[in-house]
Amino acid sequence: MRLENKVAIITGAASGLGFESAKRFMEEGAKVALADFDEKVGNESVEELQGKGGIVEFFKVDVANRDSVDSMVKNVVDKFGTVDILINNAGITRDAMLTKMSVENFQKVIDVNLTGVFHCTQAVVPYMIEKGKGKIISTSSVSGVYGNIGQTNYAASKAAVVGMTKTWAKELARKGINVNAVVPGFIATNMVKSMPEKVINNLVKTIPAQELGKPEDIANAYLYLASDEARYVHGTALHVDGGIMM
Ligand code: NAI
Repeated sequence: MRLENKVAIITGAASGLGFESAKRFMEEGAKVALADFDEKVGNESVEELQGKGGIVEFFKVDVANRDSVDSMVKNVVDKFGTVDILINNAGITRDAMLTKMSVENFQKVIDVNLTGVFHCTQAVVPYMIEKGKGKIISTSSVSGVYGNIGQTNYAASKAAVVGMTKTWAKELARKGINVNAVVPGFIATNMVKSMPEKVINNLVKTIPAQELGKPEDIANAYLYLASDEARYVHGTALHVDGGIMM
């Protein structure tokens, strides 16, 4: 049990990578706060996870809204007593070419993927400073490192996640808090499966591993960074991308 009795908030955990991570963290003994915007899918996910044993609860949150984040974190602490781990996993896309991207869709992605990570991290950090320990892991993307056609907003937000991660690692390492990021490549979740089949097939040919990643690959990376095994790991951006960035 690598996370025995640790309280983990995982944002965007109703589906995809967050859901898989909630499952993996519970297997390792964590109490999971499944924090998501989507109440219906979130509650269904909690029901499914509770069926496997372990402790998990749904907390509704819009990470883009500070009041919503503050009350989610307060509710988690009221329920579980503390917070040991934050996984900033919630994210959205609103793709369009630069010439076609609306200001609203640029801002929406920034609000969720960038400001949302800022809100959640700032809301949990005082609890971690008080305890003198904690783990913060945020989700970037290869799009933020090498760019991606149609993803001005998304790439900007995901590059910023790495910048914030390194800044917070420098500020918080001395307080016993590990801050790191995971940089997924293309992983088989709804976000990627919604792309046209032809695009996916062409994409796979460019990945040295010659396959899309599995949600478990990212869950295991979150798990490593959230565990005591990563005690001395600060400010890293761990690529889990089948080698696409080499
Ligand atoms: P997904 O779309 O399956 O899940 C995202 C979850 O975030 C959903 O449950 C959704 O309800 C929730 N969410 C959206 N807006 C929210 C908000 N304002 N407040 C709270 N929750 C909100 O996506 P997936 O694929 O699981 O992605 C998870 C993270 O991994 C995202 O940050 C994504 O950008 C990142 N990522 C995913 C990749 C992939 O290939 N699937 C590749 C690189 C990064």
